[in-house]
Amino acid sequence: MKNVPVEKETDPASSFEGTAANPQWGGRFASGPAAIMSEINASIGFDKILWRQDIRGSLAHAAMLQKVGLLTATELAEIRQGLGDIAQEIGEGRFEFSPALEDIHMNIEARLSERIGEAGKRLHTARSRNDQVATDFRLWVRDAIDGLQEQTASLMRALATRALEHHATPMPGFTHLQVAQPVTFGHHLLAYVEMLSRDRGRLRDARARLNECPLGSAALAGTSFPIDRAMTAAALDFDRPTANSLDAVSDRDFALEFLSALSLQAMHLSRLAEEIVMWASAPFGFVTLSDAFTTGSSIMPQKRNPDAAELVRAKIGRIMGNFVGLLTVMKGLPLAYAKDTQEDKEPVFDATEAMTLSLAAMDGMIRDLKPNTDRMREVAGMGFSTATDLADWLVRELRVPFRTAHHVTGRLVGLAEQKGCDLADLSLAEMQAVEPGITAGIFDVLTVESSLASRTSFGGTAPSNVQQQAQAWLNKLGETT
Ligand code: ARG
Repeated sequence: MKNVPVEKETDPASSFEGTAANPQWGGRFASGPAAIMSEINASIGFDKILWRQDIRGSLAHAAMLQKVGLLTATELAEIRQGLGDIAQEIGEGRFEFSPALEDIHMNIEARLSERIGEAGKRLHTARSRNDQVATDFRLWVRDAIDGLQEQTASLMRALATRALEHHATPMPGFTHLQVAQPVTFGHHLLAYVEMLSRDRGRLRDARARLNECPLGSAALAGTSFPIDRAMTAAALDFDRPTANSLDAVSDRDFALEFLSALSLQAMHLSRLAEEIVMWASAPFGFVTLSDAFTTGSSIMPQKRNPDAAELVRAKIGRIMGNFVGLLTVMKGLPLAYAKDTQEDKEPVFDATEAMTLSLAAMDGMIRDLKPNTDRMREVAGMGFSTATDLADWLVRELRVPFRTAHHVTGRLVGLAEQKGCDLADLSLAEMQAVEPGITAGIFDVLTVESSLASRTSFGGTAPSNVQQQAQAWLNKLGETT
């Protein structure tokens, strides 16, 4: 029986005997790690995705080392050349990533030394992997934010474009998922533009707080070398260097803020996705999705399933899970760096991928979906949806207090319900039997169209409002794509 929980081809208990020590710190180590140690320790499997950021950070660091006299101009030139070649090797898939070198930082540094010798070995002066990874990861998250910002803007444009097209298309507005009052389809779509705009605001805020450079904090205490942290910060487009080295190497707030912003955004997308799933179902019949965004059933030939919408609806599970997971990793960690924080990357990578996919799929579906306007108009008038308009008429025309008007309208709804007809199908005499002051003018406010047209209060659903709002969003977002 093996005394380790997982079965490996090699016996983990003995495999460290005779393996070579890590060349990056071999001085103090006589032999390499146990196989299981390597396996739990190595992050190269997932952090190789940081290679561009790692090389960018190293180039900035090297230029600074040369400026303050810690590298010669020749050494800097060699490092630049070497890192450029390594970037090419990785870009072309020719780089051999080694788990024995643990992570992307040591893989690149070791390869650099292999290629250029002495100068490569000087690169790690005045830095540690702790400030290095904190810097790389901030750069990566910043790039991810920028990409998602663009995608979110594109989705907002898609929604605003469809909203403009359907600024006057009636649909039922719901509360408690019961038909409440008529709204326009455009108004409904613009509600999501508002949510996404707040999502963009949160990403913007997260980016602003993230944008400080940890490089030069070294392992935890700073360094005795005369480094110029403002120079590296500027070279990497950070606003300033971080002010406390202990905080800088151990802080992952930027990743958590990013994940929390994505969790909210995923929640918004899941709501829209859920609506699309409902709208596309036969009992609703509000929209049709084309073949491009649906799948068939292997058994039921008539089926057209909104799988893309369902998957977007589900992505919140992993995105929020990633947020909670990393928050839990960070809880209770003593200062400063601890290996626990190596667990910060996969949740962020996974959430980014899920959000990138979700936004692209939602963008496609919104542009693709075909509203069934007749059906939406029909349902918009169901369930006495203009009852509030009737009550408002009593208030406006007869100066009946609203509470009384509500009561009168309730009786008229009861009457219509009893007769199995709409409010507009009641006769004037029947209405007057309930409230003698009612005149024929009341019938003008009982249609879906008049109800919509009357909702002109700021933020209301009147087609004129919606047209204006959709146009304003498109102007703000730029009409391209
Ligand atoms: N791969 C490590 C991480 O992601 C890099 C930092 C390692 N630092 C250390 N002191 N072992 O956190």
